[in-house]
Amino acid sequence: MSDRDRDPVAVAERVLDAVAEVAPEIREGLPGRRRYLDDENPSGEDVLAADVYADELVESALSNVPGAGAYASEERESAVDLGGGDVSVAVDPLDGSSNLASNNPMGTVVAVYDGDLPASGRDLVGAGFVLYGPVTTMVAGTGSPEDATVREYLVADGDREDLGPVSLPTDPTVYGFGGRVPDWPADFAAYVDAIEDELKLRYGGAMIADVSQVLTYGGVFAYPALESAPDGKLRLQFEGNPVAYLVEGAGGRSSDGDGSLLDVPATELHQRVPVHVGNPALIERLEAALS
Ligand code: F6P
Repeated sequence: MSDRDRDPVAVAERVLDAVAEVAPEIREGLPGRRRYLDDENPSGEDVLAADVYADELVESALSNVPGAGAYASEERESAVDLGGGDVSVAVDPLDGSSNLASNNPMGTVVAVYDGDLPASGRDLVGAGFVLYGPVTTMVAGTGSPEDATVREYLVADGDREDLGPVSLPTDPTVYGFGGRVPDWPADFAAYVDAIEDELKLRYGGAMIADVSQVLTYGGVFAYPALESAPDGKLRLQFEGNPVAYLVEGAGGRSSDGDGSLLDVPATELHQRVPVHVGNPALIERLEAALS
């Protein structure tokens, strides 16, 4: 393999290209795969036929990417060796797949780490998500988290067409928070009381679609710590880190309640973390409310 093949940022670009290439096939396969299988993923969630289908397509797309060394998925207990090098790819093949029954948006989330998994968000060399909405788009960036720039792409015919840079509007308008309201800790509930006077509720139940609203209109998305689940629901390697990378790259902030999600120590492949992302001032207020 040449040095160019091994360069982690170049590998990340190729990974994102491969995911954009396979995304139309994932989308086309959804209509016939809306049924639940008699199975659970490693996080204890019910698995749809579409989850398994998307996972297999992404694995096979990544196995042809020079420099990609490992594939980990929310649908699998442990990472698969792709034999290509030091770069690991963590993917949620169909984020928000419970939206498939109700025909609401969902996405594919990709995190590319320079090193073995579980890895710190600071080891990311690229991240992106495909959003299967009325239009199939990708939001993605490459480079170290400190200097990544994030762009939106139109995904069609196996290619991604650059639609320009993504940056959070400075005048935020929307919020969307997961979990049952009675399960929210009192300090988080008090924060919600304050911001719902200023912002408009927009929540669809698929993280990637809800984060896309924040990237488009400005605001804040959270799947917070819950009384019944102090680490929240979302997974650091597959969801928290890539979304933090993209929102921070678009001029926003991320937090686990204390500081950037990218600084949360990685302990396990399927570890959960409270996720809060959005405009910097809204995340600062959140951290003050939770401290
Ligand atoms: O992690 C999967 C996911 O579907 C996210 O996309 C979404 O934010 C969350 O779970 C919704 O979960 P629930 O409907 O259980 O609150």
